[in-house]
Order: sequence, then C-alpha cells, then structure tokens
Amino acid sequence: MDNNKVKFALIGCGAIADKHVAAIERLDNAEIVGACDINSAAAEEFIKKYSIATYMDVEKMISDTNPDILIILTPSADHEERIAALIRFNKHFVVEKPLALKVSHIDKIFEECREKELKIFVVQQNRFNPPIQKLKEAMDKGRFGKLVLGTVRLRWRRDQDYYDKKAWRGILELGGGILANQANHHIDILMWMMGDVESVVAKAATRLTNIKSEDTVVVILKFKNGALGIIEATTAARPKDLEGSISILGEKGSVEIGGFFMNELKIWNFLDFDEMDKSLWERYAKVPDEFAWSHTKFFKNVVENIKYNNKWAVDAFGGRKSAELVNCIYKSIETGREVFLDSLENFL
Ligand SMILES: NC(=O)c1ccc[n+]([C@@H]2O[C@H](COP(=O)([O-])OP(=O)(O)OC[C@H]3O[C@@H](n4cnc5c(N)ncnc54)[C@H](O)[C@@H]3O)[C@@H](O)[C@H]2O)c1
Repeated sequence: MDNNKVKFALIGCGAIADKHVAAIERLDNAEIVGACDINSAAAEEFIKKYSIATYMDVEKMISDTNPDILIILTPSADHEERIAALIRFNKHFVVEKPLALKVSHIDKIFEECREKELKIFVVQQNRFNPPIQKLKEAMDKGRFGKLVLGTVRLRWRRDQDYYDKKAWRGILELGGGILANQANHHIDILMWMMGDVESVVAKAATRLTNIKSEDTVVVILKFKNGALGIIEATTAARPKDLEGSISILGEKGSVEIGGFFMNELKIWNFLDFDEMDKSLWERYAKVPDEFAWSHTKFFKNVVENIKYNNKWAVDAFGGRKSAELVNCIYKSIETGREVFLDSLENFL
C-alpha cells in the first residue's frame, strides 16, 4: 500500500457510484485511484464530475492504477461474472448488494476467493445506522427474551420512469425486482436480528408499473427459533415514499426503527433498564443527515479491516443468506406453497 492509503477502483460508474466516491473521499486513509465503465456515456459523465482516472478498459485501469480493492458496481446479475473475470488480478473485492443472485454463484465466488486468500465485502451500509447498531447490541445481549415477531416494511415510490431508465431494474434475471434490489437491505437486517429462517410463504403482484418483475411482495416467515416474521415490500407507494422500517417484538421488549431507510428510532421499550438506554435517544436515534453517511461508515470498516485486521462488520456470508432467502421466496411465489430453506438445494 503506497503512501499508506488503501487504494480503491470502481468498476461501473452508474447511479450508486456517487455515494462510493463521497464516502471514500471522506476517509484520510483511503483513496479512489481509478474507475471504469464499458459504457462511454457513463464514463464521460463520471469524468465530468470527478478528477479520477477513468477508463473503458478494465485491464488497463488495473495495470495503470494498481488498486488494492476493486469495487463492483455493475448491475446485480453481472456481479458473479465480473468477479470471475477479475479474480486473476489478486485484488480484494467490495461488492454492492446483492453479492450475486444465486447461491450456487456465491459459493463459486467464495471458493475462488478462498483459494487466493482474497476478501469480499458486501455493501450492506444500513447495518451501520446507529439505531440499527443499538438494536443489534440489545439483541446480542438477550434483552428481548423470547423472540415473537420480526417485521420489515418497505413502502417506496418508484415510477415507470425509474424502471425505464435502467432496464435491468424491472427484470428478475438481471437482478431487478423488489427482493434482490430495494428490499435486500431489509432482508439482510431482519435475518441479522432474528437469525436463520426455517420456511416462507409469499405472494407477489405487479400493480402500478409495467415491468417483468413484481412491484409488491408480502412474505410470512417462520424463523428457526420459532418466532414469526413478515416482509411487506412495495415500490408502488403513491404519491410519495412512506417508509423503510423494521420492528422486533420479544417477551421483554419492543423496538421499531423507521424513517426512509431504517434510519430513525421510533420505539425503544424494554421491561428492564440497561446502561445502553441512558444516552440512546440523544446519541443513537438517527442517521446524520449527510449524503452517503452509512456508506462512509461501511468503507471505514473495510479500510480498518484491510489495514489493521479489525472486526469485519459485514461478512460476505450474510450476502449468501439473503440470496438463499430470496430464492426461496420466489419459489413460494411460483408454486403457491410453503418453502423450507433446507430444501433449497433442490432448486438452486
Ligand atoms: N447499497 C445501496 O443502497 C444501493 C443502491 C443502489 C444500487 N445498489 C447496487 O449497485 C449496483 C449498481 O446499481 P446502479 O443503480 O448504480 O446501476 P446502474 O445501471 O446505474 O450502473 C451500472 C453501471 O455499470 C456499468 N457496467 C456494466 N457492465 C460493466 C462492466 N463489465 N464493466 C464496467 N462497467 C460496467 C454500466 O454501464 C452502468 O454504468 C447494483 O448491484 C445495485 O443493486 C446498491
């Protein structure tokens, strides 16, 4: 690592790239040395905004800039192929969510990276939201007692225009659809809190947009610990976004985190007082109103892991769990039946 900074390079300069640039530019011990997009219009747009060496040929970008970590920001269905194509360069990977669409693809990625001792970090930035961090702390301390119900609600507005701008967003096989795309964060956080899922029953509908995937999904989950769960997700909220929230109910407490992206603490009720409750509402109730704040925390964690081997908050295995659950939900939608996660190998 020259000049002691961790060097990142972006592969894909589309919509989410701005957050990655903003996040990494805030860190003293990291820098973006290069970017690449195969689409000339996207590359040109990026060059207009940033003074980052930008290429259309990834090999040239890597050989000219010698990054430590490649950040995969291509459409979701491309992630597995991109990693497979780039692994020979022996760089670590940051991959935007979802890590890949199929569990079998993720296992292939794990195997290839393990062989070369490369790390994979999956961008699940909402894990760093202060109220979510506190919820996880309360969960790990056992403050909820016996878990009863875990619910996530995603009620966002995404018009036809949003889907028309980037065709992949409305096509399941390309990583579109509400489960692999928007609700992926909520699914990740729900399982992070409630643990592994035993089975799912789901229904989907396409109500307000002309797309090949669904714009609305409801899922009933049974967790392995016996608790139940609900995922309610729609991009057909009108006339504006309503919420992105999670609630956890247990025998000794209830917590709800709402806002647009699980960023605002709404309810924190526990039977027993704990030291962590003292300054909770003043210090941890909200994500600061700053562009890409949670992405910045995510990258800080990645850099600390690369430089000092610090605790790694978003293990790639979580990306495998979400993919497994999403695969099962689609199987239930398709068959109209309850699907058990243990039977997943039958339809990978
Ligand atoms: N964490 C989040 O909150 C969040 C938010 C939005 C998107 N995402 C994820 O980020 C990823 C990208 O989403 P987006 O909205 O930026 O998509 P996008 O379509 O706006 O951008 C993708 C870019 O990748 C480029 N690309 C495609 N193949 C390429 C290749 N082989 N080499 C180099 N560039 C290539 C495309 O030309 C395009 O410019 C998706 O996986 C999505 O799920 C995450």
